[in-house]
Amino acid sequence: MNDILLKLEEAVQFLQAKGISRPGVGVVLGSGLGSFVNEIDIEQEISYQSIPHFPVSTVEGHSGKLIFGKLSGKQLVCMAGRFHYYEGYTPEEVVFPIRVMIRLGIENIILSNAAGGVNPGYKVGDLMIIKDHISFATKNPLIGKNLSTLGPRFPDMSEPYKKELIARALDIGRQQGIDIKQGVYFGVTGPTFETRAEYQMIRILGGDAVGMSTVQEVVAANHMGIPVFAMSVITDIGVREDENTITHEEVLHFAKAAEPKITLIIKEMIASL
Ligand code: HPA
Repeated sequence: MNDILLKLEEAVQFLQAKGISRPGVGVVLGSGLGSFVNEIDIEQEISYQSIPHFPVSTVEGHSGKLIFGKLSGKQLVCMAGRFHYYEGYTPEEVVFPIRVMIRLGIENIILSNAAGGVNPGYKVGDLMIIKDHISFATKNPLIGKNLSTLGPRFPDMSEPYKKELIARALDIGRQQGIDIKQGVYFGVTGPTFETRAEYQMIRILGGDAVGMSTVQEVVAANHMGIPVFAMSVITDIGVREDENTITHEEVLHFAKAAEPKITLIIKEMIASL
């Protein structure tokens, strides 16, 4: 068997041997968005270190465990902490946990992240549903021999973010009185934030927000035919003329501030599935 498939099998068997219930939905929490886990009726927490072949999270603000439990009566698995290409992981490592969650049985995946706004209509603290993405220099995780038991060689990417899930989130936003933008996520490698010229370029090329995660995970989920919903919290504005310094602390701070809103949306999304 292929090395990746073997590793996936071992990780899945390890988790199933712990008696986890089959999760219906997977959730990935971005930088500064960890308090969503307080909403979960937690059944088991399993640290990444203990799971065979799982990478280990290094970035500040990411705690690094899989959480199994229930929310709104739905069985879920939540990744508290994700893996980024800029940390030095290979694209296969970045998407390994996504593939594990899908092999465990999830039928939908919900991702969140912190992102820099480049749409001049955005402000810090806004929520943006990702309706499409542009990958810029983030290596495609499907490069290499195709793992046909996971999905096709040339996956369709005409609807990487499920329209039906987007419509649901917009409904929830309306019901809850939360304004939600919709835009294109421009995926970059990081770890530098962008130069002023790069933020301008991203805008010209069609991005509404820019970030260092998510795209590879979305590709892996689409490869395996799993519907994706993803949402960004805008934590900084890249197209400002002045005061354009951006720090990781600022990103974490503004992600935290927007956490109640994004938590509510994700919770209601899960209830509606
Ligand atoms: N650029 C890239 N990634 C980010 C940003 C940004 O401005 N903000 C949060 N993540």
